[in-house]
Amino acid sequence: MGNRTLAILKPDCVEKNLIGQVITKITEAGFKIVAMKMTRLTEASAGGFYEVHKERPFYTDLVKYMTSGPCVPIALEKENAVEDFRKLIGATNPKEAEEGTIRRMYADSIEANVVHGSDSDENAAKEISHFFSRKELLENYG
Ligand code: CMP
Repeated sequence: MGNRTLAILKPDCVEKNLIGQVITKITEAGFKIVAMKMTRLTEASAGGFYEVHKERPFYTDLVKYMTSGPCVPIALEKENAVEDFRKLIGATNPKEAEEGTIRRMYADSIEANVVHGSDSDENAAKEISHFFSRKELLENYG
């Protein structure tokens, strides 16, 4: 059971001015912020991040969407982080997300679904290092 996961507050979250509300939900659920930044992804960075979906029909649109505006990657820490965070955000498709989940509350579509969460401990480690250097993580680790 790992204790870290990567969240990304996606461009729709930033555009709709929901950064504060979503971070409040995350911290109220017991997650600690280990590192955080606001950035606009390049095509290469978004393409690399979503490399696992390269063969999927939605890949090109996904990369286009994730580079359409700034986003906020956040490294989070909590016991059982990956699974608990996925419960907190709800299903990828907000129409299928449970009542009270972040996507159910704030998301408009499967693409503009407010927030990303890692799907395994192995991917969490890879995804955190996609955005944060070891030094950044150590400096922010309290
Ligand atoms: P995320 O958790 O960031 O991982 C991959 C993303 O692809 C997913 O959230 C969705 O926002 C996006 N996506 C777009 N279309 C689809 C689809 N048909 N099925 C799954 N994911 C999709």
